[in-house]
Amino acid sequence: MNRAIKFKLRNGKLVTIRRIREKDYEDIMKFMDKFSRDVGAVQTNQYAGQPKKDKDQSIKLYESDNNLFIGVWDGKNVVGIASVNKTAPNHPYRMGKRAVIGLMMLNKYTHNGIGNKMIQILEKWARENGVHRLCATVRHKNLPSIANFIKNDFIITGVKYDTAYINNQWLHEYLVEKLIEE
Ligand SMILES: CC(C)(COP(=O)(O)OP(=O)(O)OC[C@H]1O[C@@H](n2cnc3c(N)ncnc32)[C@H](O)[C@@H]1OP(=O)(O)O)[C@@H](O)C(=O)NCCC(=O)NCCS
Repeated sequence: MNRAIKFKLRNGKLVTIRRIREKDYEDIMKFMDKFSRDVGAVQTNQYAGQPKKDKDQSIKLYESDNNLFIGVWDGKNVVGIASVNKTAPNHPYRMGKRAVIGLMMLNKYTHNGIGNKMIQILEKWARENGVHRLCATVRHKNLPSIANFIKNDFIITGVKYDTAYINNQWLHEYLVEKLIEE
């Protein structure tokens, strides 16, 4: 993704979606802090009170050609982020042709079309960057996310049992995948 885009939400509001860069680190940390205390956090690995992500490591990830990190801005505030990461870019067995997707946004902004748009942007980057297989893991009761991936032609290819213990129950994860011609 080279340029910022304006995206119109279902409620008519315009937000900006663009690549996250080094200069955005503090804004992203503010978002992570808000998100980790919001209801959607339990659908991810984020949790209230978690340590701040390491600055150097985060910036390295934002700026690397092996990943795309995108953010959604409502005015000056980041309200959602998503990423696609090649997991082993230089591996001789072409394991670098696999990339993992993740998405999260504040609850107030969900069901407005952002998640669908972010998957499309991440998939476009994957196609342009030699990815063969796109993957994600989704908690088994996260119906909005499962539906979002299925809407974008991912299929459920596996299940991992007991991957997280939240609110007194073990939760499982579905693996969702999409093959890209490469
Ligand atoms: C899951 C998430 C990324 C989806 O993004 P979103 O912006 O809410 O989704 P969209 O509005 O773009 O909707 C895309 C599709 O997802 C599905 N969907 C979205 N919200 C849904 C809901 N509340 N119930 C059922 N399906 C839903 C629908 O299939 C929808 O397509 P449609 O509008 O044609 O019906 C977002 O809700 C989120 O960040 N949740 C909290 C964190 C999280 O779960 N992250 C994903 C971890 S794998």
